Amino acid sequence: MNAKVNISSRAGASFPVRRMNFDFEQVPQYWASESAGITHFLTALSALFPAGEKFFIDSVRAVRKHPLIKDDERLQKEISAFIGQEAMHTQEHVGFNASAQKYGHDVATLEKNTDTVIQTARKVFAKVVKPFGMTQEMVDLTATTALEHFTATIASQLLTNSHIQDLMTDQTMANMWYWHAIEENEHKAVAYDVYEGVFGQGIKAYTLRTSALVFAMTLIFLTQSYFVLRLLKQDQKLNLKELRMIYTYAYSPSKGIITGMTREMLAYFRPSFHPNDLDTNALLAKWKAKLGL
Ligand SMILES: [Fe+2]
Ligand SMILES: [Fe+2]
Repeated sequence: MNAKVNISSRAGASFPVRRMNFDFEQVPQYWASESAGITHFLTALSALFPAGEKFFIDSVRAVRKHPLIKDDERLQKEISAFIGQEAMHTQEHVGFNASAQKYGHDVATLEKNTDTVIQTARKVFAKVVKPFGMTQEMVDLTATTALEHFTATIASQLLTNSHIQDLMTDQTMANMWYWHAIEENEHKAVAYDVYEGVFGQGIKAYTLRTSALVFAMTLIFLTQSYFVLRLLKQDQKLNLKELRMIYTYAYSPSKGIITGMTREMLAYFRPSFHPNDLDTNALLAKWKAKLGL
């Protein structure tokens, strides 16, 4: 592992907060198998994280003192560790994004755009569901549970899809993505447990969380795709070769990391769904050993 790992606090949660300190100084411009297409595809994802993960933290923090969960000691410890992990992810992605900026890829603007999209979407969605008695806090938390399901699913795909792993040729970047992927699966149930703890499992909670998933996935697809095209265009790499790479490793039926997510994403629509239904413990144990975490 080419990063200083410091397990800073466990504080009784079921997973630790690891303080990482990746050095992005030597990361090459096209760090993913020298492919501009795949590099920019992953950079576009990375651009979503600083504002996205801040939103997750704020959403959970806003309800953690709710009377229905404030005395749940186990959940409170999980929330603290969740906030700690997400804050560390943001810190490292900000570091990587700045290193991409250094090559002239304007990730700073994409980070700002992400914040605008999130703030606009959460307010619009809250307006739409207000007549049904749903609050801004409920909307924010359900958007977080939906997006946490997305991140946990893409993360488990990253840890299982050997085609995409073969493209992670820069060791620093590979380790950063694998570390993030492991932690997304370690804390995948936290926001969901908070949501259920506060809003229950009734028809209203089900309708909101499933419609939030559809809304959030549409938005994330449009935003990330726009970011990819923008990065490629600015870099004068918007051509068939790069688009074909993205199609093959993201969207093709046989190798695509996004298409590989379909079954797990659809599981969210089961009324009895819980993030821990998909047991990733063995997968995580294997990867933690591999990374020395
Ligand atoms: Fe994260
Ligand atoms: Fe997360």
